[in-house]
Formats: sequence, structure tokens, C-alpha cells
Amino acid sequence: MKVAFAQSAAISVDAALRSQAIAIAFSKNEKEDFELEGPARLVSAIEEHFELNLLDELTFFSPTGKAGELFEIPVSDTDSLTERIFLVGLGDKGLNSIRLAASAIGRKVRGKSTKVFCACVNEITELKAFTISLSLGSYLWNQKTDKETLFPEFCIATENQSQLDDAVVIAKAICAARDLVHTPANIKNPAWLSEQALSMGKEFGFNVKVLAGKELALFGGLRAVGNSSPKPGPRFVELSYVPRSAKKAVGALTHVVLVGKGITFDTGGVSLKRPYDTMTAMKSDMAGAAALLATVSALAQLQPRVRVTALMMCAENALSGTSQRPSDVITHFGGTTVEVINTDAEGRLVLADGLAYADKNLDPDYLVDIATLTGAATLGLGRQYAAMYTRDQLLADSLGKIGTESGDKVWHMPLIDEYQDALRSDIADYNHTADKEKYSAGSVTAALFLEKFAGNRRWVHLDIAGTARSEVDAGENPKGGTGFGVHLLTDWIMSL
Ligand code: BES
Ligand code: ZN
Ligand code: ZN
Repeated sequence: MKVAFAQSAAISVDAALRSQAIAIAFSKNEKEDFELEGPARLVSAIEEHFELNLLDELTFFSPTGKAGELFEIPVSDTDSLTERIFLVGLGDKGLNSIRLAASAIGRKVRGKSTKVFCACVNEITELKAFTISLSLGSYLWNQKTDKETLFPEFCIATENQSQLDDAVVIAKAICAARDLVHTPANIKNPAWLSEQALSMGKEFGFNVKVLAGKELALFGGLRAVGNSSPKPGPRFVELSYVPRSAKKAVGALTHVVLVGKGITFDTGGVSLKRPYDTMTAMKSDMAGAAALLATVSALAQLQPRVRVTALMMCAENALSGTSQRPSDVITHFGGTTVEVINTDAEGRLVLADGLAYADKNLDPDYLVDIATLTGAATLGLGRQYAAMYTRDQLLADSLGKIGTESGDKVWHMPLIDEYQDALRSDIADYNHTADKEKYSAGSVTAALFLEKFAGNRRWVHLDIAGTARSEVDAGENPKGGTGFGVHLLTDWIMSL
């Protein structure tokens, strides 16, 4: 990863002049006049130093005031390093607009060694969104060997050091999830993913337990999918976070259990994906598990008074002599039998084991799964909203709100009981792929299937097939893995 994380800087002209670029924000007021934003005295001191009237300069560009609009003013001066001033539009100044503005600055200097001093925001909530999006916009991942990839440096004029530090923790976690998603599947097999978890556990101070081989005897779904690629085979990775201050009174804490789909590559198996080019994006089919690993790493640094257990269900869905067959019947953790219809619907099989394990062994107060589960979620909602399923309206409301504020937006979808019929099997407890012709609603029927394994828990399912990956560089997202879910889950758990 090549990305910069912000540091705080003094709210002073001297600090500003030590950077190659200074970013200042603007917006339109009710009278349709443009105004400069950010620490007011600092902004006018910068204008004085360069003998500039920034609003006059701005008018020259005929701005619209749209969030993320960015203009560049060259400046030169013998006693500073500053070569340019960026004027960035803050739109309606809502959090979404702040994110667009910050990511536009990040994108502008992505892959360059420019140091940017930002004098754009005042409020704490804005500072958090701004700091995170600044880094996300500058994120770059590649394995090119032809030239050294450079990366920028960011300083933010603020006195809120601790808020800035917390925002950087989240930004780093999102970028860590992106890195995991970008890593190609020839490197990223389930064993590699479990090793990443072990090393992040060591680095940030949370517990990691890995099960493999015979230890997975009861995990029929994970084995059925993962044994298609027996070397190294599937892994069950359990991450446990307990706050440092509450090691003894753990039982009294709210317990959140998260379950993530960690399919390191999804060929579809015997029901091979067609057309074949739909397979190329499938190294990202572990984005749910990656989001959990990153979230737990962030929590271990932020130390909320909650207990969190995250289950990464890691397997490759390969086409091989040991692949499962359409018509196989498998026994999940807890004993439920399932008739496998289409081996490309592998995500729900590995998640079913994780949910049943959580329900039977972990006594969760909240049970949340996150998965790149169905193409149907993308068909229904596109790439901006994840599909959220739960029967708990309060939980849906709170995740909906935190989603909008964090930028990881979720849409509450219905668990339609009329479609339960789709899960009927003549020979097993359930059939795992609903009859598509008759029901459509592939994301809904997948959610209904998962619900069978969640017991009576306060359960939420997040289908992130659309949001985990971006087709283009846009806003804070790079083309590729977005890190969706890390910000949402971290903020939600911090709010409990
Ligand atoms: N990993 C895919 C879902 C997916 C598709 C994620 C596109 C991201 C982008 C999942 O395993 C899958 O193949 N689902 C099938 C289910 C079907 C066979 C019932 C689907 O959505 O077509
Ligand atoms: Zn699949
Ligand atoms: Zn899949």
C-alpha cells in the first residue's frame, strides 16, 4: 500500500509554509456568495503572506461550489516551500461533502511525494470524516516494479490531536482491508489469510485462534467448499477482542460476534462461473473477512468497553477433483443438513457454519455477518449501498444512521417470508440455492437461508457484493477493494 496518514499541525502560517501545498476549502452561503472555510484567522494570514485575495482568485475559475471541486493556484515565495494552494469545494458542508472534498485532495496528490497542509475544517465530526477520506483518496496499491511509487504527506491544522489519532486508526484499518482484498489469490490462500490474522493479532494485541484440517470436522460447509483446494485447505479464524481494562469482568460486557465470508477465490466450483470474465474480480470474495480483521485491529487500538469475537470463514472455491458436486448433502456445524444445488453459492455454506458456531458456543448479544454474497445485491442496489437484512428495526435504524455518517451506506431490505418455500428440499433440511426462475430475489433468499443458522439472536446480515469493490476510481474509492464495512462496524461498535 502507498498511502499517507495525516498528522496534526499547529494552526499557524509557519506550519503551513513548511509544505509544498496548502489546501483551503470554500463553500457557497445562502446568498449564493462564496466563502472560505477552515480556521478563519489562519486562512487570512495565509492570504496576507502570499498577498492574495483567495476569493478573487476563486472567481477566476468560475466555480460551481460542488463538493470535491478543486482548483490549483500556483504561488511562489522565497521564504517558504509552498508551491501551490488548492481551493476545494465543500458543497453543502454535510459529512458526505466533506468526504468528497478530502478525497479530492488525496486523489490530487496520490502517487506524488507532495506534502499538503490542510486548513479546511473546524468541527470535530468534520475533522474525523476529513482525515479518513484524505488518506482513502490517496490510497494506491500495485505490484509494479518499473518505478518507485511515491506517496504524499498530510498535515491537518487542528488542536484535536486525540480525535485525529482515532481517525487515523480507522483510516489505517480501511487501507489494511483494501490491501488484503487487492492481494492476488495465488498469494492469498486461506492459510496466508490466517497468518495475516496472527500477525495483526500480535501487532495490535488481540487473540487469534486458527482451526485447520481435522479440527474442522464439525464445519461441514467450510470443508465442502474449501476441500476443493486441499493444499492448504480451509481455515476457521477466530479473533477475540477484550478491552484491556476489563479482563476480569468480561462476562458483564456486551458481546458482539461478527462472521465474515473469506473466499480467497471464487471460481464457482463445478458450477463454474459464466461468462468466465466474471471470475476475474473474485479475489475480492474475502472482503467480508478482511473487513472483520481490520475492524478488530482498529478496536484493539480504540479500546471500546465491548467484547468482540470475529469469525473469518476462509476457503477457496476451486474447480478440482475434490470439489463438491451439485446434489451433495452436507452437515453444517450444529447438525443441520443442506442439499447443495449450485456450487457457486458457496458463501452461504461457509457462513452457515460460522453463524451456527456463534449461536451455539459464543452466546452473542449481537450477531452480524458480512459477505460478498450475491450478484443480486448489486443488481438491486448498485455499488453505493450494501443490502442489510434484519428483523430488528432498532438495530437497522442505528446501522442505517451510522452507515450514512461513515459513508459505508446500508439499505434495510425485507426478509420476505413468502419466499421461505424456496429453501425447501426433498432430501435435506434445506436446499441451499432457491429456485431462481420462480423467485428471483437472490439476495433475499440467501438472507433467509442464513437466518436458519442464526438461532434467536439479534442478527444482521450485510450483503456487500456491490460495495466491496469499485469498478472505477471515484470519491474515496480506488478501482478495486474499497474496505467497505470497516468504518461502519467500528463506529457501530464504538457506539454500543
Ligand atoms: N461471490 C459471489 C457473489 C458475487 C458476485 C460477489 C459478483 C461479487 C460480485 C457468490 O459466491 C455467488 O457466486 N453467488 C451466486 C449465487 C447463485 C448461484 C445462487 C450469484 O449471486 O449469482
Ligand atoms: Zn460463488
Ligand atoms: Zn462467492
